[in-house]
Amino acid sequence: MNLLITGGAGYIGSVLVRMALEQDHKVTVVDRLFFGRETLPEEDKNLKIIKEDIRSVSKEIFKGIDGVIDLAAISNDPAGELDPTKTWSINHLGRLRIAVLAKNMGVKRYLLPSSCSAYGFQDDVVDETSDINPLTTYAKANVKAEEDIIDLADNNFCVTIIRQATVYGLSKRMRFDLAINGMTKGFFQNRKIPILKDGKQWRPMVHVKDTARAQLMILEAPIDKVNKQLFNVGSNEQNYQIFPMAEMVAKAAGIPFEYEWYGQPDHRSYKVDFNKIKTVLGFKPEYDAEKGAKEIWDALKNKGTDPDDPRTITLNQYKKLLADGVEI
Ligand SMILES: NC(=O)c1ccc[n+]([C@@H]2O[C@H](COP(=O)([O-])OP(=O)(O)OC[C@H]3O[C@@H](n4cnc5c(N)ncnc54)[C@H](O)[C@@H]3O)[C@@H](O)[C@H]2O)c1
Repeated sequence: MNLLITGGAGYIGSVLVRMALEQDHKVTVVDRLFFGRETLPEEDKNLKIIKEDIRSVSKEIFKGIDGVIDLAAISNDPAGELDPTKTWSINHLGRLRIAVLAKNMGVKRYLLPSSCSAYGFQDDVVDETSDINPLTTYAKANVKAEEDIIDLADNNFCVTIIRQATVYGLSKRMRFDLAINGMTKGFFQNRKIPILKDGKQWRPMVHVKDTARAQLMILEAPIDKVNKQLFNVGSNEQNYQIFPMAEMVAKAAGIPFEYEWYGQPDHRSYKVDFNKIKTVLGFKPEYDAEKGAKEIWDALKNKGTDPDDPRTITLNQYKKLLADGVEI
C-alpha cells in the first residue's frame, strides 16, 4: 500500500514506519520533526519525508495514497496543558482536517490512533461501549477528534479509531515519560524505581511494536470488520497495577527491587477490556512488560539509547521549543 503517516517521526511513528517499510509498503511521513529527523531511516527509496504541519499541509500529498495513519499530536497530558488552544488545534482540528482532506482526495482508508485515557477514572472494567470520562485537554481533544472523524465513514471511506493502552518499549524517538520506560530508566540511573503514588492504580499497557503491528493489521483487514469501528489496542493480561509492574521491571533488570515514591496520588485508574480486537481481528501482543523492560534495560547498558537526551521527556522538549520561539 501507499501509506501516509502523520507524526511518523515520533515515538510510535518511527517504529511503525520501519515496520511498514519492512512489509513492503511505500511510506510518506508528514511531521514537524519536533523530536528530530534522525528518528527515521536516513535513506530509503520507499520513504518520503515532508516536514509540514498537519494544519496547513497541501491536499496534493494525498494523491495516490491508499491509507492514512494519523499519529501527529501533542502526545501527553502535561504537554497538552502547556497551551490548550494549540492542543485543540492539532489534536482535534488538525486531525479532522487530515481526515476530511483524505476523504475528499479519494483515499480509501483512515486510522486514528487515539488513547485509552478517553476512559479516565472508572471503577468498572471499560470496553468500547462504555461511557467515557476524558479528564484532561489532551484526552478531551482526542475524544472530540474520534467523534467528528468516525462520522466521515461511508462505503468509500473506511474509518477506524483505536484507543491505545499506554505504550512502552524502545524507539528511535525514545520516550522516558511513559510508565515502564521511565521506571526502567530510573532503576538504571539511581537503582531505585520511581513509582507514581499510590501504586494501586490500574493502567493498560501495550508494546510499541504491538500497537504498530495492530495499526498495519487494521489497514489491511476486510473493510466490513473495521469500518466505522472503535478498537481498544492492548490485551487483558496487560492491565497492570503500577506497583507490581515496577516489580516486573526489577525482575527484567535482574537486580534487587528498590523503589521510591513520587507525585500526588494519581486518579487516572482504569482497567480495559481488549476482547474486541482479539476476537474480531485475532490480535495478540507479542510483548509483555517484563520483556519490554528487559529490551530497554539492555539498550541502556549497551548505550543503544541515551537516558539523558532531553527530547525523551515530551513536556520538556515542547517547553524548549516554545522558549526558542518555535511556533507550535
Ligand atoms: N505513547 C503512548 O503511550 C500513546 C498512548 C495512546 C495514544 N497515543 C497517541 O499516539 C500518537 C503518537 O504518540 P507518540 O507517543 O508517538 O507521540 P510523539 O510525541 O512521539 O509523536 C508525535 C509526532 O507528531 C509530530 N507533530 C506534532 N504536532 C504536529 C503537527 N501539528 N503537524 C505535524 N506533525 C506534528 C511530532 O513532531 C512528533 O514527531 C499521539 O496521537 C498520541 O496521543 C500514544
